[in-house]
Amino acid sequence: MKEILEQLEARRSDARLGGGQKRIDSQHAKGKLIARERIEVLLDEGSFEEFDMFVSHRCAEFNMQETSIPGDGVVTGWGTINGRQVYVFSQDFTVFGGSLSETHAQKICKIMDMAMKNGAPVIGLNDSGGARIQEGVASLAGYAEVFQRNIMASGVVPQISVIMGPCAGGAVYSPAMTDFIFMVKDSSYMFVTGPDVVKTVTNEVVTAEELGGAKTHTSKSSVADGAYDNDVETLAEIRRLFDFLPLSNRSETPTRPYFDRPDRLEMSLDSLVPENPNQPYDMKELIVKTADEGDFFEIQEDFAKNIITGFIRLEGRTVGVVANQPTVLAGCLDIAASRKAGRFVRFCDAFNIPILTFVDVPGFMPGTSQEYNGVIKHGAKLLFAYGEATVPKVTVITRKAYGGAYDVMASKHLRGDVNYAWPTAEIAVMGAKGAVEILYRSELDDKDKIAERTKNYEDRFANPFVAAEKGFIDEVIMPHSTRRRVSRAFAALRRKKLENPWKKHDNIPL
Ligand code: HXC
Repeated sequence: MKEILEQLEARRSDARLGGGQKRIDSQHAKGKLIARERIEVLLDEGSFEEFDMFVSHRCAEFNMQETSIPGDGVVTGWGTINGRQVYVFSQDFTVFGGSLSETHAQKICKIMDMAMKNGAPVIGLNDSGGARIQEGVASLAGYAEVFQRNIMASGVVPQISVIMGPCAGGAVYSPAMTDFIFMVKDSSYMFVTGPDVVKTVTNEVVTAEELGGAKTHTSKSSVADGAYDNDVETLAEIRRLFDFLPLSNRSETPTRPYFDRPDRLEMSLDSLVPENPNQPYDMKELIVKTADEGDFFEIQEDFAKNIITGFIRLEGRTVGVVANQPTVLAGCLDIAASRKAGRFVRFCDAFNIPILTFVDVPGFMPGTSQEYNGVIKHGAKLLFAYGEATVPKVTVITRKAYGGAYDVMASKHLRGDVNYAWPTAEIAVMGAKGAVEILYRSELDDKDKIAERTKNYEDRFANPFVAAEKGFIDEVIMPHSTRRRVSRAFAALRRKKLENPWKKHDNIPL
């Protein structure tokens, strides 16, 4: 009996060694953790239950029958993050470069199926040379099996991808279909075709880092939602994000203990908006001062900075925040901002996370570049996302809410539940200067007259009261009481019931 037990231990040790000590050392030398170490950092201590440790490939091409490594290049199973269940796969670069074989894919599919059945998120730690070359089409089939599951799981359980090494070719499309992608700076990259192919086809010379590193994907392409300095920091941040997310679309938003009084007043907010309407101020200050304990997890911090998206908690419950940022492009909506915020709003709605919107928007960004690239269709994404969302929606207009952008930003007319405005709000079709120039074109040479017209327009329209008179704003509130008002609004909306008409699915302008 003892011998059998020892045999199991020996087999386990063998499997844990993956591709061998030399390759483990080489991984460490690159500043990267190995697959199992990553899982240890990600999950609560001792919570990991591994599956399929002894699964090995079935390939007999290229003499592969002679090299069979238990686990086949991916560690899979489930564990907990701060006590809440999560399924995990972690690709092992020490085994055939973490490449994906038929059996490797089957292991991933197994835990994805379990996650769907049991209602728990999936976190994938990607570090792979792509399709296992020796397996050919069997490997491609494996990828497609994973893709299909990503699609079916979308909107059912949160899916998070962490890119911790290479991720190239069609392999990028599994992460691309998950809810969030995070990358490790300097040691990860993602591209459909690598620098060599790019050079051959387009004659462009780029490094892997320039083409698909963390900076590229967080600031230029918006493929990734965030990037951190190293493996440990990245995994710690994923733990932080996980605490904001529900386990599935069937479960409630998580509630964490909170120590911050919901009725805390922030007197400093009374002077947040400058006297000069053209002077910017940092909207993040309002977000942080509204949040429980000032805790804000930002999504896509380095992309389309004219809009801010991320998670906070109010009375311990997760709330998604969307806010125009006046310090960047005056907080204008453009293609990038609409795509970024539209996707975020849809994530929140899919997973029953209430949405708080802070508005200071002078309108949509003008210009040929915007029009030629389809601002009409992309802008409609955010409009569509807000309009279809049935979760509780609370909106606070701090300053400008002009034109179509007023409608888009969770206005009353798009089923905003509670719409507040600060006394500094200006809700109008456009700013005074633009309006006067159109209405009084024949008087433009008369500076005094135009100044008077402008003043009259400002007095009449540069305030929240015209909208409040019509009931489009539920209440004009003091800036210092924002946290209290907004917390109470969400508390009142906890049992909100709103359903969209039955349809197979909508046709959001993609
Ligand atoms: C089998 C692979 C492999 C692969 C790497 N290895 N990629 N084995 N299939 N795809 C093996 C190597 O042979 C090597 O084995 C070990 O992994 C480590 O690889 P190195 O090249 O030594 O590591 P490094 O120098 O860090 O380079 C990593 C790399 C490079 C950039 C990922 O290995 C590489 O270019 N691999 C091929 C990438 C690729 O073209 N994949 C197919 C993409 S197409 P030993 O035994 O020496 O340790 C694709 C299609 C998916 O993925 C389609 C989905 C629809």
